Amino acid sequence: MRHWPLTALELTTAELVLRLPSDDELDSLAQVAADGVVPDGAVYFPQPWASAPPAERARSVLQNHWWARGDWTSENWRLLLAVFHDGQVIGQQNLSARGFAATGEARTGFWLGRRFQGQGYGTQMRAAALALAFDGLGAARVTSTAFADNAASRAVSRKFGYRPNGVHRVAVDSHPYDVHEEVIEAAGWHGHTKTIPVDTAGLSGCISFFR
Ligand SMILES: CC(C)(COP(=O)(O)OP(=O)(O)OC[C@H]1O[C@@H](n2cnc3c(N)ncnc32)[C@H](O)[C@@H]1OP(=O)(O)O)[C@@H](O)C(=O)NCCC(=O)NCCS
Repeated sequence: MRHWPLTALELTTAELVLRLPSDDELDSLAQVAADGVVPDGAVYFPQPWASAPPAERARSVLQNHWWARGDWTSENWRLLLAVFHDGQVIGQQNLSARGFAATGEARTGFWLGRRFQGQGYGTQMRAAALALAFDGLGAARVTSTAFADNAASRAVSRKFGYRPNGVHRVAVDSHPYDVHEEVIEAAGWHGHTKTIPVDTAGLSGCISFFR
């Protein structure tokens, strides 16, 4: 799309492709969410979208993508990428920032449909987001937050050598949850043994969208 060059941005790992979805692909992503993202009763997000009824969960995925695009400025952006495996949509990888040109700080978030979890895709998704942030956009640091009992999400951060950056408490449906923030700095990323190659295409045409 000429006037939304983010549509040409594409990150490729050994098994995955990450890019903006078309509306039809977004509908498939919404269906993946409707089919299930978190185990019954688990709370892994401050906004409890993932434990809403399936139709509501699906709609919130659509609206979140449309909102993120509609609300985009270079001062405050949220890149929500669909993740494809063998041409099939399996989940979502986020990279977002506020005041990135000044702070050099971005944050990530991610989710996969339940049937696609535990197969190493989350690790490849995070690698793609970090490659875009550090190698592509010149980030200084990237943060990630995870609820205390979200072992898989925290394990992914550990694998990349993030360090703890504090714990805060949030209320979800009136219950308190500890949320761990972890951070990785550029030196940590560049010093990390990169066993997950990431190919980035289409960034030059949209770099002004980020900073
Ligand atoms: C979090 C998530 C994206 C991680 O993706 P994934 O593909 O499942 O993770 P991976 O298969 O790449 O596994 C990463 C590591 O976590 C470990 N891990 C996975 N599940 C685990 C569990 N339940 N307990 C402990 N470790 C676990 C894996 O062993 C792996 O480490 P290893 O390679 O050293 O063995 C995915 O599980 C998910 O979508 N979960 C539900 C939504 C969610 O929690 N999103 C994040 C909110 S912060």
